[in-house]
Amino acid sequence: MSSLAPGLRRLRRTRLFRAIGRWIHDHARIAAVSTEIAEVKCVRFRAACLGLCLDEVRLVTRTACDDPLTGYWLMSLSVRPLFRRMGIGAALCRAVLETARDRGAEAVRLTVRHDNESATSLYQKLGFRILPPTADLAPELERMERLGGAPYVAMEAELTSGPP
Ligand SMILES: CC(C)(COP(=O)(O)OP(=O)(O)OC[C@H]1O[C@@H](n2cnc3c(N)ncnc32)[C@H](O)[C@@H]1OP(=O)(O)O)[C@@H](O)C(=O)NCCC(=O)NCCS
Repeated sequence: MSSLAPGLRRLRRTRLFRAIGRWIHDHARIAAVSTEIAEVKCVRFRAACLGLCLDEVRLVTRTACDDPLTGYWLMSLSVRPLFRRMGIGAALCRAVLETARDRGAEAVRLTVRHDNESATSLYQKLGFRILPPTADLAPELERMERLGGAPYVAMEAELTSGPP
């Protein structure tokens, strides 16, 4: 939210905007598009309202047995600043978890910058727990640190048969 201009930040705090936010949350529709390149499958989920894209997230599945990152990964979650704190990010993550469960996943993993409190709090509410930095995760965490300029942690949500 800090990336919003001060005027927009004030606007977000008004009662009218909060009512609009609830309306947007209730009327947002999530669309999923699947792609597949070799042994990497990707589903991109996008939430939109009145034709306006609010955010997106990906479920990436790696199936090669020699790939240390084999499994289901939640990636690239992002909500447009004006539409944050309306429950849209959580709705998209739930769509990712449901799709992963439908595809037979037992768990979904992700990486997040260690100081990204808003994202970490969202993931924890959805059942993700921080994983110890094991040898198989180390290369990915180092790669993310090089890209992001700060340490990353890996998180995992175990999928049960009920809703996330
Ligand atoms: C992280 C992000 C996706 C959250 O999206 P969102 O739509 O605002 O999240 P929601 O409204 O669904 O929030 C759900 C919960 O997440 C947590 N949360 C979200 N934003 C937060 C913030 N700024 N500060 C603290 N907690 C926050 C809260 O626990 C919140 O529940 P609550 O509103 O009942 O308190 C959004 O802030 C974003 O796009 N950030 C920039 C990109 C990014 O960091 N992506 C994650 C990469 S790993």
